[in-house]
Amino acid sequence: MKTNWFICRSTSLLISGLLMSYILSSQAPFINIIPKPVNLITKKNSFIYDHNTVMLYDSNIPGIVPIADIIVNQLSITKVNTPARKNYISLSIDKKIVNPEGYKMDVNRNFIRITAKTTAGLFYGTQSLIQLINFNTRENKIPALEISDSPAFPYRGMHLDVSRHFAPVDFVKKYIDLMSKYKFNKFHWHLTDDQGWRIEIKKYPRLTEIGAYRDSTLAGRYSEIPRKFDKTRHGGFYTQEEIKDIIDYAGERFVEIIPEIEMPGHCMAALAAYPEYACTTSPVSVWPIWGVSEDIFCPTEETFTFLTDILSEVADLFPGKYIHIGGDEVPKKRWKESSFCQELIKKENLKDEHELQSWFIKRIEKFVNSKGKTIIGWDEILEGGLAPNAVVMSWRGEAGGIEAAKQKHNVIMTPGSYCYFDHYQSLDPGEPVAIGGYTSLEKVFSYKPIPEELLKSQSKYILGAQANLWSEYFTTTKQVEYMAYPRAIALSEVLWTNSAKRDFSNFIKRIIPHQRYLKQKGLNISDHLINLEHKTINTGSKVLFTINAPAGIDTRIFYTKNGAIPDPEALVYRDSIVITNDSKIKYQAYFNDTPLYPVYNADFKMHMGAGKKIELKNKPAEQYAKGGNEVILNGIMASTDRYSDKEWLGFLDTDFEGTIDLETPDYIDQVKMRFYNYNHVGIFTPREIEIYGSKDKADFKMIGGMKLANFRDSNILDANIRIFDKKRYRYVRVIVKNSEFAKEYQKNQVQKYNWLFIGEIVIE
Ligand code: ACM
Repeated sequence: MKTNWFICRSTSLLISGLLMSYILSSQAPFINIIPKPVNLITKKNSFIYDHNTVMLYDSNIPGIVPIADIIVNQLSITKVNTPARKNYISLSIDKKIVNPEGYKMDVNRNFIRITAKTTAGLFYGTQSLIQLINFNTRENKIPALEISDSPAFPYRGMHLDVSRHFAPVDFVKKYIDLMSKYKFNKFHWHLTDDQGWRIEIKKYPRLTEIGAYRDSTLAGRYSEIPRKFDKTRHGGFYTQEEIKDIIDYAGERFVEIIPEIEMPGHCMAALAAYPEYACTTSPVSVWPIWGVSEDIFCPTEETFTFLTDILSEVADLFPGKYIHIGGDEVPKKRWKESSFCQELIKKENLKDEHELQSWFIKRIEKFVNSKGKTIIGWDEILEGGLAPNAVVMSWRGEAGGIEAAKQKHNVIMTPGSYCYFDHYQSLDPGEPVAIGGYTSLEKVFSYKPIPEELLKSQSKYILGAQANLWSEYFTTTKQVEYMAYPRAIALSEVLWTNSAKRDFSNFIKRIIPHQRYLKQKGLNISDHLINLEHKTINTGSKVLFTINAPAGIDTRIFYTKNGAIPDPEALVYRDSIVITNDSKIKYQAYFNDTPLYPVYNADFKMHMGAGKKIELKNKPAEQYAKGGNEVILNGIMASTDRYSDKEWLGFLDTDFEGTIDLETPDYIDQVKMRFYNYNHVGIFTPREIEIYGSKDKADFKMIGGMKLANFRDSNILDANIRIFDKKRYRYVRVIVKNSEFAKEYQKNQVQKYNWLFIGEIVIE
């Protein structure tokens, strides 16, 4: 009997197993390749590899061996030269394929064939195959399919700033290697800036002896008051031998390196080493802080000799077509004050300092062109007239790129809001410090590099786009990885596939195994695939807490109210959560059964005003009221270190006046208010607060107040106003008068803002 029972059970297991595999095999496999191939058809059957599988290719094709080796090493198979009839993987050239980077792949039960016009195409086909092996293979079975694929854009770039923080050779290689796996083909290497010169120049050794090191670095946020410095020497540079090694490494991966030598600004490190090329004689040091320096190159003959000597060595070293010469963020103060520059402007018949910069860039371009290379410059090179052959890198939005394309110049798009990966990738307050901004994975994925306003005849000038990774806040290479990935994976699909209809949910489904795999391989890839955003609504008596996931994503959200980490056993979020008491909400999304990180928090400390309605006399600025006007009465304190946090309400050049309806008259002991302080960007604390009470919303009586001195000690000012009139009031009017100190401070500033940022009005 026992035996019988066992047979029965195993038979039923067998049947259900067969049923399962039938169901699985009858469904078309979901292919996880990123960037998504342009044409892909899945078929029945699969290719099964084993120890008899052979790798077939013509070893006479230059550069093919390392590509074949990628597959050979991955599958531990044997290389052969003699044709096989089945069980083989082949790489071969097919001149009929149009796109030089395109490829075709045919997987069936007998073979896998990858064909391409060039070895670059074979390399990309190989990368797709490796992804199939990593993410779509079960029991050595690679699903049968046909792919015909080619990139939408010829320029698919990633940038890395090694000036603000140096990155060692091994890391640069790792960065390039990973780029190439996602079919990026341009590495823009930002080698020089105010904070460090990183490339050996034989003729000017002090560039690296002095310019490659700084004595101290800003620690923490630029906006933090008071500022802190680490007082630690930081630096490093690449010898020309190391650079050659990196160029070879990149070349094997079909990545062209574009070196950037910044001029005429962002050059403090060079001027620290060779101060004679500045317009003033005041000493310059390798900069310990971020921002834009007024010290720039002076356009003397000696400076041009210095710069063209440097560019000569750079042109000899790098085999690629492009040299990036910077051109961004050049304050003209030094040139305005220099009698030499003013004479030069007259002599060359130039209108102003902008035309002088254009004259400078044109002269440099002529030299670079004479070396057989093309210059790329940031979009400021449009000001004062473009150099004849220059490629424009559009970073201040897309306007520069659009203008350049209209002028028939090639363009690389790097608009901040989509392509600056030094921005935050989530609004989670627990994020490591970043420069600012917010560029989510979804935002990157939505990017369309060809602006709608361009005609078809103009859009051909858009060569592609690039992610920029400025390293001010990348104190470790782990942080570079965190900021670059997964966003680079989204950009790879923008640049290669560029589908007209983006399906973010489909992308999320494909990226999950990539993220898991890269994490296993030790990459510090960020968890942020989708961002949940919460919003609060005041009903007048309580706060409703709502959570939004990106539209069209099949997620479930779980939450707790007591600070515990949510799991699928926790409460399921449906439409909103009612908050009446102090609560520590934690919430997390799940995509099918995969938890998506991070776990988000919202801490409520309820007070008499929390959940109440407020009428505002003056409107807040739209961009600093994204959480609605009632965020200042929702029981959540605004962040102490990010005024971009949606819990802040920002008012520009106006006082604040708000009337709060407590609904039932009550005694008030005190009113507490939180303000942000950051004079550098025009945010000031107020000069005075007045509190009024009313029973009927008609007669208001002053019940408390406070005058405030100029405040410069820290980013947060918490004011506590005691109420001296102890009666019951239903209406509380709060008047906050904006800073007068701002006017005095603004005298020396270009931007003359007077912002008032309110974090919460706590009524107790
Ligand atoms: C730039 O971000 N200054 C090009």
